[in-house]
Parts: sequence; structure tokens; C-alpha cells
Amino acid sequence: MTATIIDGRQIAEQIRLEVKQDTERLRRERDITPGLAFILVGENPASQVYVRSKGKACDEMGFYSVTEKLHPGISQQALLDLIEKFNCDVKIHGILVQLPLPKHIDENKVIEAIDYRKDVDGFHPVNVGRLVIGQDCLRPCTPAGVQELLIRSGNDPGGKHVVVVGRSNIVGKPVLNILLQKKDGANAVVTVVHTGGPDIARFTKQADIVVAAMGKAEVITGEMLKPGCVVIDVGINRTPDPTSKNGSRLVGDVHFPSASQVASAITPVPGGVGPMTIAMLMKNTMRAAAGSIYH
Ligand code: GUN
Repeated sequence: MTATIIDGRQIAEQIRLEVKQDTERLRRERDITPGLAFILVGENPASQVYVRSKGKACDEMGFYSVTEKLHPGISQQALLDLIEKFNCDVKIHGILVQLPLPKHIDENKVIEAIDYRKDVDGFHPVNVGRLVIGQDCLRPCTPAGVQELLIRSGNDPGGKHVVVVGRSNIVGKPVLNILLQKKDGANAVVTVVHTGGPDIARFTKQADIVVAAMGKAEVITGEMLKPGCVVIDVGINRTPDPTSKNGSRLVGDVHFPSASQVASAITPVPGGVGPMTIAMLMKNTMRAAAGSIYH
């Protein structure tokens, strides 16, 4: 069997088109332009690339956006003060502090300082809690993108057994909480496993849908999968490749050559989950600007 490729670029483009249309309506009917503030601390090359592409997406949506680039040695208090400034800025509906932060800054304190109504990453404890109890909220972008990919590729998770590999606050835990909801497009039986436990394959072999998000290159192989399952690969890892121009290439947490021989559908890396993260960030910002989530 050779799996169908789930095209994340195409699905993300569709979502961006919908967000753009909603944004035009918001401006026409209520004179609101969604505004997103990016805060980038230090010079992590990957973070710089991410923030630049998120800023470009804002331009394409017709959003207002600002990027504050801060010195890596900035004090925690100065960062908190900047967040407070954006909390009070009526032109700003979303605040995104790009992670990771330098070691001397407490990530949790920074996340908690963001007004939860502007927390377009969905990382604030209020949003995490609301997600767990099934209340409407801003939801983490990558996990929300995983759900959209499943629904829009015709692989509704309802009634299916989903095995999530990985337990991070950014991906594993929110994927669990999103797909477990008693709602359309969710309603899955969800098992979470991770590299701290024995025999991941014992669980993945029972999965109708595998979500790989442990951040380890090509660990999930075809022989760990049930024939016909759906594989969503959240991993982005750089691996040495002497045949490529710069000596390396991007791979997921799934070993694509073997997994695609067993699965019925699979996301590629790149071009799978990655583009969905930005699309869902745009959607979150538009929803935050519309102000309909929190009353
Ligand atoms: N760094 C890696 N992923 C993310 C993300 O989703 N949001 C933020 N703010 N930083 C990240």
C-alpha cells in the first residue's frame, strides 16, 4: 500500500483564504483591523525565520503587525513591561512571544503576563484550563492545525483511536485535549505515550490515527503502524544528508519511506503540519480581534 499524501500547504492556503475573507468582513462591518505583536528575544536563527514568515502571513491577511526584537540580555522585567504595553494597546489583539526564551527569563511568568484574550498561542493557563473543560478559547496553533488537517483531509477523528506520541505543553497535551472533546471533529479515544515509557510500538500498532510529536527524527517506522492508519507527523528535525547541497535535510518524527508503505494517509515534512501552524495563528488573531470568544 502507498499512502495518500495529506497536503498541508493546500489546506493551510484554504484556511488563509477564509481568514482573509473574514478579516475583510470585520473591517467592512465593524471597522476592526486585526493586530498582532511579535516579540523576539535574541538571535536564534530558527526563531527569526518563524517570526519573519508569521509577519509575512499577517501582511497577506491584511492584519496590522509589529515586531519587537529584543537584546538577548534584556531583563525579565523589561520584557514583562513590553507585554503590558501591548496588553493595553487597543490596536493589538494578539501577542506572540516567540519561544524558546533565554535561560534567565521564566517562560511561565512571561506567558502568564499576556492578557489571555490576546494569547493567540493558547499557552496561558486560562486558555489551557478552558480547553481542558471544553469551553471556547484560543487554542494552541499546531494542535488546532492537526485537527483541521484530519477533518479537511476526510479523516474525521470521531470514534477513532488516536495515539499521540509526545507529551509537550505545546503539542502533545493540547492535541489530547482537543481530540478528546465531545464535539464534532473530535470525539476520539486518545492514548498519550512518550519516550519515558516502554514499547511505544505496542500502542501505535493499535492506532487508527498516530500523531507523532516527540521531537526525535524518524523514530516511528512502518512496522510500528497498523495497516491503513493515518499518520500526522508534527516533527521537524534537521538530519545530516551528504547528498544535499547544505549537507542536511528536514525530516519528521516519522520514517516516511517505511510509514508511507503501511499507512493509508500521511503528512509529509516539510509541507504537512508546518504550514497549518501559521494558518491557525492567523485564525486565532482574527477571532481575538472579533472579540467573540470571551464575554
Ligand atoms: N516556538 C516553537 N513553536 C512555537 C509556538 O507555537 N509559539 C511560540 N510563541 N513559540 C514557538
